[in-house]
Amino acid sequence: MTVRTRKPYIAGNWKMNLDRSRSLDLVKTVKGRIGDGSDREVAFFVPSIYLADVSAVAQGSPLGVGGQNMWYEDDGACTGELAPRMLREVGADRVLIGHSERRHIFREVEEWMPRKLRAALDADLQPIFCIGETLTERNANRTDRVLKKQLESGFDRVKPEDAHHISIAYEPVWAIGTGETATLEQVDHVHAMIRKWLFGKVGGEAETVRILYGGSVKPDNAKALMALDTVDGLLVGGASLQAETFLPIIEYDAN
Ligand code: 13P
Repeated sequence: MTVRTRKPYIAGNWKMNLDRSRSLDLVKTVKGRIGDGSDREVAFFVPSIYLADVSAVAQGSPLGVGGQNMWYEDDGACTGELAPRMLREVGADRVLIGHSERRHIFREVEEWMPRKLRAALDADLQPIFCIGETLTERNANRTDRVLKKQLESGFDRVKPEDAHHISIAYEPVWAIGTGETATLEQVDHVHAMIRKWLFGKVGGEAETVRILYGGSVKPDNAKALMALDTVDGLLVGGASLQAETFLPIIEYDAN
């Protein structure tokens, strides 16, 4: 049996879904089910316009609330962007950095990632740094190389003492929203590779970084994914939008 040294982390990324009232209902339901949060960490990554309301409902519970993206400067002429301090001001304690939809749909470039990761840490926002390969890259046997490159650039400004604040989400682009999950072997291989890379980068502090899997996580595959020693948590998109599908994922070990 696995003896966990890192607290399991189950996070829901709502993307551009739900509305205000359904968001708040979902948060109320989940908040009522997570107890004191001592055995697992649960969080929602929320459209920024709902952050203040969601944070108010989550307050007093261990439920984490985060932004889905941010810019790396504290103010300036950046129409449409959000500063780290703004996320904090409306109650966020964490943020996604480098989600594949930001990288691919909105053309966020690699050079921004180290700045964003640094800015999140400096603003006391716990980042989940997202990496993942496309299907073309996987089919060309370039998965490890592509992921290491994303890690190298993202962690450029990270110091070993920052490591325990950071989580990494491995989200293969081809598994996001497609119903196709990476095989357990693929996930295990990549997560082990990430852990090894982390040791090279931050030494023993690598043990403190949680590595999450994301990409078509559902109630019926959560348990098997979490049973892998290399998987510390899950980043859930579609199945995090309803209590009926998200609660069984949070309680993956109960079914
Ligand atoms: P799905 O769970 O809908 O595949 O989304 C995964 C994801 O991108 C989470 O950030």
